[in-house]
Amino acid sequence: MIDLHMHILPGLDDGAQSMEEAVEMAQIAAECGTEVCAATSHGRFDRQDAGEYIFRYRKALKQLQAELKRRGIGLDVRSGMELLADESLLRYAESHPLPGYGGGRFLLTEFYFDISLRQALETLDALMRKGYHIVLAHPERYDFIKRQPENAYTLYREGVILQVNAGSIAGKFGRGAFRAADHILGEGLAGLVASDAHDAFTRTPDLEETERILDLYYGIDASGILLEENPRRILEGRGLDEL
Ligand SMILES: [Fe+2]
Repeated sequence: MIDLHMHILPGLDDGAQSMEEAVEMAQIAAECGTEVCAATSHGRFDRQDAGEYIFRYRKALKQLQAELKRRGIGLDVRSGMELLADESLLRYAESHPLPGYGGGRFLLTEFYFDISLRQALETLDALMRKGYHIVLAHPERYDFIKRQPENAYTLYREGVILQVNAGSIAGKFGRGAFRAADHILGEGLAGLVASDAHDAFTRTPDLEETERILDLYYGIDASGILLEENPRRILEGRGLDEL
């Protein structure tokens, strides 16, 4: 499997708190059959030290990759960042390239949970006009989609790739997110599913149960497409439209 949403780098955000925990997360991922992941630390660009943050990110990524190699853990960790899509990100993008998956044009983005559909569309549209492709993290967790899951279709129609969280499918983010995730998956609007893992204990990168649920409820091939094929296409910069 390929897990494109994981807060595995230590010391950068509310994810792994130490190298030891990051290694433990990598072990859990590898044991459940994840071969490739993206280290998607939160990226907020309202900060003055954005350049320094990116530098620290790159250093932490190299350290983790080296540590996993040293310990013989077979998880290929790629670069990425979960970018908070707001005014400050758009301003930052005026003069800097944004950190997409593997340095490419596919961005993992998130919003504040109370954003409106109109604001979300405007922000994503501005990024897409700059030539980026959007992967939207956990659409099922935003208020405007929980209230009206059909809004997910509006994003989908605009070409936004929707990434559903494994935890939402399991009901860990409440009834609203569970129902919205079910709508998105059931209507075939989901582009991929990922763990959004933050630690080795509660929000872990274990996707084994997710894989089973996807195949059981959303079609025999669902896990292959959402946990393998589509994430691979995104990493390769190919998009999903040729499916
Ligand atoms: Fe996340």
